[in-house]
Amino acid sequence: MCSETVHLPIVKTAVWPDEAATQRFAAALAASPELRNAFIELRGDLGAGKTTLVRHLLRALGVQGRIKSPTYAVVESYELPDLAVWHFDFYRFSDPQEWEDAGFRDIFASPGLKLAEWPDKAAGHLPIADLVVQLALQDDTARQVTLTAQTLTGLLLIQDVDSIVPTPTHGQEAISLENLPTPSASRASA
Ligand SMILES: Nc1ncnc2c1ncn2[C@@H]1O[C@H](COP(=O)(O)OP(=O)(O)O)[C@@H](O)[C@H]1O
Ligand SMILES: [Mg+2]
Repeated sequence: MCSETVHLPIVKTAVWPDEAATQRFAAALAASPELRNAFIELRGDLGAGKTTLVRHLLRALGVQGRIKSPTYAVVESYELPDLAVWHFDFYRFSDPQEWEDAGFRDIFASPGLKLAEWPDKAAGHLPIADLVVQLALQDDTARQVTLTAQTLTGLLLIQDVDSIVPTPTHGQEAISLENLPTPSASRASA
């Protein structure tokens, strides 16, 4: 039975067995129209694959040349013909004044794609993320993934990715998205 109400957050778990699976997820995400105005948090320990996922995503979006990790600069920005992208790494973010001085408030008020590693370090400044991607090492190449949609945009992102590359689900914890209503009315007006 389809219900009219979607209760957020929606959580989906998966396993990406190797980096190629991470790349396929990134390519599917890049193909979603919802990505054009989304905020995605990347969570997980050092080496989990946050920057790797962002690199594959930026490549799929058409970014050429070197893609630097913003660990030192805190943010790297990319101007694509029809899309502005900001890749944050808040690992070294500590000065609240920097939020204003560096124009981060303005960035989050602008249309475009915002990606943030280590969002907890900027807690209190960041808006609620549309999608949280939590990565955990399973072995050298496999990653356990938890996708949490916290907004309608996030839900549509998960649904879009799922329709392009059904992510291999992870045991019993997987939550089926099949029976969720597609909020087509909101989508058409978005
Ligand atoms: N399935 C996978 N997904 C993402 N990265 C992977 C995967 N398997 C192996 N890796 C490797 O793990 C490392 C992840 O590093 P990085 O992306 O910098 O992590 P983080 O940004 O989370 O600290 C990279 O060397 C990458 O090639
Ligand atoms: Mg990183």
